Amino acid sequence: MFEIKVFDEPAELVEQVAEKMMALSCRAEACHVALSGGSTPVALYKYIAASPIKDAIEWQNLHFWWGDERMVAAESNESNYGVAYRTLLEFMPIPKENIHAIKGDAQIDEELARLTAESSSSVAQYNGRPCFDWVVLGLGEDGHTASLFPRQVDYDEQADWIAVTHPETGQPRISLSAETLCNARLISYLVTGAGKADIVAEIFADEGEQVDAEEHSYVADKYPAANIFAFEGETEWLIDRAAAQKLTQD
Ligand code: 6PG
Repeated sequence: MFEIKVFDEPAELVEQVAEKMMALSCRAEACHVALSGGSTPVALYKYIAASPIKDAIEWQNLHFWWGDERMVAAESNESNYGVAYRTLLEFMPIPKENIHAIKGDAQIDEELARLTAESSSSVAQYNGRPCFDWVVLGLGEDGHTASLFPRQVDYDEQADWIAVTHPETGQPRISLSAETLCNARLISYLVTGAGKADIVAEIFADEGEQVDAEEHSYVADKYPAANIFAFEGETEWLIDRAAAQKLTQD
């Protein structure tokens, strides 16, 4: 149902993700990727921008979306799109129409409607909702992923995109819904740093409770990250040694 890969160094993890991006771009068909915010993707963007792999990536085949976004202007360092653009996309030969940013300075309801229309018309549909080829996710120390925070996720939500309020800061955000994230063909969690060791161990502690992907169901009260996996696709957890240090062997 999922695979865990542990890397000695974050740099090795990032290199593997860059290679995955290259491989997906070389399939000679459009590949819709939903990126995440957080620090590990930034390391990925910087690595690609500085490495020869950027010349091997078929940029015209990649379409970039964001699994979640803070409702701030693109110029802000809190903008997941803005950071990706300024550290990588701006310098790559990618058609502008392949960049499907969430407009963080738009009116939230209008932006939800616009995104729903755009993803419905651009991304292949499966199970009546967009089926992203690849969803890149992070893991928050509280177990959140994308902008799905503990104790506030409606797993029955049928909308593809949802409005979220950050539970502590009150910051408004937009996120893909649980059902749409789980409809992906491939989900890759990128998790680095000792600060994630406890939550990683907790998420995998009672693996016996993990539901069978065939059931397409969620485990009540679990951390959102434990509940988000590709129902019919693949899920991989790419974790560096520091974040994996409290995982038991096997
Ligand atoms: C966001 C995210 C979020 C992030 C995790 C991990 O807040 O924008 O998309 O889900 O991926 O908080 O962040 P780090 O990689 O910085 O630990």
